[in-house]
Amino acid sequence: MVETSFKYVILGGGVSAGYAAREFAKQGIKPDELAIISKEAVAPYERPALSKAYLFPEGTARLPGFHVCVGSGGERLLPEWYTEKGIHLILSTEIVKADLASKKLISAAGETFKYHTLIIATGSTVIRLSDFGVQGADAKNVFYLREIDEADKLVEAIKAKKNGKAVVVGGGYIGLELSAALRINNFDVSMVFPEPWCMPRLFTAGIAAFYEAYYANKGINIIKGTVAVGFGTNENGEVTDVKLKDGRVLEADIVVVGVGAKPLTTLFKGQVEEEKGGIKTDGFFKTNVPDVYAVGDVATFPMKLYGDIRRVEHVDHARKSAEQAVKAIFASEQGKSISEYDYLPYFYSRAFDLSWQFYGDNVGETVLYGDSSPTSPTHKFGSYWVQDGKVIGAFLESGTPEENKAIAKVARVQPAVASLDQLATEGLAFASKI
Ligand code: FDA
Ligand code: NAD
Repeated sequence: MVETSFKYVILGGGVSAGYAAREFAKQGIKPDELAIISKEAVAPYERPALSKAYLFPEGTARLPGFHVCVGSGGERLLPEWYTEKGIHLILSTEIVKADLASKKLISAAGETFKYHTLIIATGSTVIRLSDFGVQGADAKNVFYLREIDEADKLVEAIKAKKNGKAVVVGGGYIGLELSAALRINNFDVSMVFPEPWCMPRLFTAGIAAFYEAYYANKGINIIKGTVAVGFGTNENGEVTDVKLKDGRVLEADIVVVGVGAKPLTTLFKGQVEEEKGGIKTDGFFKTNVPDVYAVGDVATFPMKLYGDIRRVEHVDHARKSAEQAVKAIFASEQGKSISEYDYLPYFYSRAFDLSWQFYGDNVGETVLYGDSSPTSPTHKFGSYWVQDGKVIGAFLESGTPEENKAIAKVARVQPAVASLDQLATEGLAFASKI
């Protein structure tokens, strides 16, 4: 069988891989030193587009438009870019076995790839309803969304089931973004989730109340406090309805499930130290195995700002961790040192004409300020999180770039505040003066 050897291999061809490749090029690699191995058929792209403009009926995003690194305002890395740099893009190639001791990766087709330095960038995979024992979720037109081929199938179904009924299972990021995208495509949309309010891992009840009312005003039917327990199908095996635990049955031509993601660490089980579900790294994304790094969704890394270790499933960290790992690899080769990763958590989402950003940590007491009426023309409102008398987290809907910068600064600086009342009164002005 074929055996190929590279100085550096990035396993995974997603967001981190693309930003790592750009950093490798900046640091100055020689042709044929770097390979990216990906089971996807296309060069690294900005995954967030898949749940947003990729699904829009107008102003649709398509490749090559959103290859990395356009998502952070950088130059787009087209497939030709990798060729010019002598970077091997080994696509449609799934690695099924990794042997970190002998520094070998083996593909489903039986090829062996050897490396000196490995960056694990396998990202996450979707949690399936079958993981919770729900039967029937393999019916036709029940979709999960992680990779572009899944988005393509969803786009086909949206066309085939024009103006039909959609049920979105899950009230997190995918739930909120996909409900909006399907509504924009003129589907009759119901959204189902078990918690008392949407996006509970970040939103407070007050923040969620705005989005739920806004979605309801757009005609989206929000069903809380229950879960999908089964699916009905027609003679073609296509989904026809979703059965809920509370006994209700919702008609459906399309179902999209977004019930969370899990990091893809299976290939490395027992070979590398793990923590909090991810591959444990230091502040340079180095694992406990020599010459093996892990970045993006799979890495559990030291969060210097909070003195703990965390895993982050968001694109900003995927980009920055990849760059940090490559800088660290070059520094160690040259006997130099670089600063430890000092990440400020940053999450965002966009749906309809809404756009929010969050920076920092969402623990402690909270205060809501601004105009959070769902019928307000500006809908500019925000929230602060306060712990031990310091502001440590900040959320803002419909902020300008300057305002978003201001809340990011607050979360980084963690200014002391006399009372929650002060924040409620000052609102955004508190952030703007820091
Ligand atoms: P990523 O998932 O990007 O890439 C992993 C790659 O590894 C894939 O190409 C995969 O095929 C490949 N791979 C895995 N196992 C393999 C194997 N055994 N062999 C070969 N290849 C393998 N975040 C955010 O902050 N804002 C946003 O708006 C969004 N929006 C969003 C939308 C959708 C639809 C998704 C699915 C996710 C988001 N995210 C997001 C999250 C963000 O996209 C995510 O955190 C990053 O893509 C993580 O980057 P990674 O490189 O770690 O994994
Ligand atoms: P999530 O963790 O954001 O949300 C999961 C949701 O699933 C929960 O909020 C809950 O409402 C629901 N849920 C859990 N069990 C359920 C059940 N049995 N039945 C019905 N609902 C159930 O995960 P996601 O929305 O699936 O997103 C997947 C991944 O993609 C995550 O890593 C996320 O960070 C990423 N993503 C991020 C963005 C963004 O940052 N804007 C956008 C899309 C996707």
